[in-house]
Amino acid sequence: MLNTVANPGLEGVVAAETRLSSVDGQAGELIIAGFPVEELAPRATFEEVVYLLWHDILPDTNELTTFQQALGEQRALSQTTLNLLQAAAQARTPAMDALRMAVGTIGLGTIQGGADENSLRDALTLLAQFPTIVAAYWRFLQGAVPLDPDPSLGHAANYLYMLSGERAHPERVRGLETYLNTVIDHGLNASTFAARVIIATDSDVVSAVVGAVGALKGPLHGGAPGPALDMVFEIGEAGRAEAFMRAKLGRGERLMGFGHRVYKVRDPRAEVLAQAAKAFYEADGDMALYDLARTVEETAVRLLAEHKPGRDLQTNVEFYTALLLHGLDLPIELFTPTFAISRAAGWIAHCFEQQALKRIIRPQSVYVGARDRRWMRLEERS
Ligand code: ACO
Repeated sequence: MLNTVANPGLEGVVAAETRLSSVDGQAGELIIAGFPVEELAPRATFEEVVYLLWHDILPDTNELTTFQQALGEQRALSQTTLNLLQAAAQARTPAMDALRMAVGTIGLGTIQGGADENSLRDALTLLAQFPTIVAAYWRFLQGAVPLDPDPSLGHAANYLYMLSGERAHPERVRGLETYLNTVIDHGLNASTFAARVIIATDSDVVSAVVGAVGALKGPLHGGAPGPALDMVFEIGEAGRAEAFMRAKLGRGERLMGFGHRVYKVRDPRAEVLAQAAKAFYEADGDMALYDLARTVEETAVRLLAEHKPGRDLQTNVEFYTALLLHGLDLPIELFTPTFAISRAAGWIAHCFEQQALKRIIRPQSVYVGARDRRWMRLEERS
């Protein structure tokens, strides 16, 4: 019989082997399929990084062209998915809930599920349709008509096009690609673990990804960048940063964009995104928000060290995600869905790894409830 209380957050528990990414929280190092994130994220297209994760090798020209075409052809949504998104917009459903519901409708009649040979095709459909869902939903919310995807554009450029109706400047596409590449995979984070648990039952990749979207929604995981940006806006000017955050900590609130289960030094993704954001804000000729964010970051890290000594609470990826996505004119409501557009590729890659293992994930629990209860009829219970 088990008689030890399990570590409730599973800190330090190794539950999978992966070739997809390595997270070293002490060294502040993230490796994505062999490449340091700083090396890969600002240079590759998103399609190249997806191919790398799914096939463990960078594509050559022919492979990349074929992969881009296959993705481009799968982008259009079914009428069922569009109808659902329209109804969700009428009900002002939060974007992550709309995304979860819409992903569940993907491939009605085409997704086979279960069998391994169908997984790659289902995966392409899933990945291709994530940005279309998010953009269509956003346009429905604005009372606008969703735009048809443009198969001649890359994944990132087409997403920006479907949101605004305008072809984005290459600098903006580069900024978004750097972001998508940076957050594509990150060890056994909560949503990835959820996806692996689901696929390990020999379920299908769509079900695994729907579950992962649900896990990503929570503010302790993917939902932090919106509140992180709100905080920077509320602070408004550098001189108010310390008093504002002291008061917040005094009320027992958390500073969003800081702290991480694994990283005990600055999250390496924060710097990749900070550099991408800086390039952007410099190009726009207005560094005010970027400079304010830097001050907020420095102050927050100092105050957190005072508030929770020894906890090593440092900047996490969400803080500069907020600044970068805001610079790309993405509304706060779409920050977490945009994270999902990228991480979907990582979830799917983990599904492939887990499917190859053919082993259900089934830990145990320690029972701490009552024993020896005896049944009482309804009229005997007080
Ligand atoms: N602000 C204030 N205090 C904090 C913060 C924070 N951002 N983060 C942690 N703490 C405190 C906790 O209250 C806790 O104190 P206690 O032990 O005295 O109660 C201590 O520091 C340790 O924190 P834990 O919650 O035990 O750390 P855990 O590893 O469980 O949590 C997490 C990590 C959830 C990210 C946490 O740091 C947090 O809530 N941060 C703010 C939300 C955020 O930025 N989330 C995005 C994470 S990145 C991602 O998922 C992609």
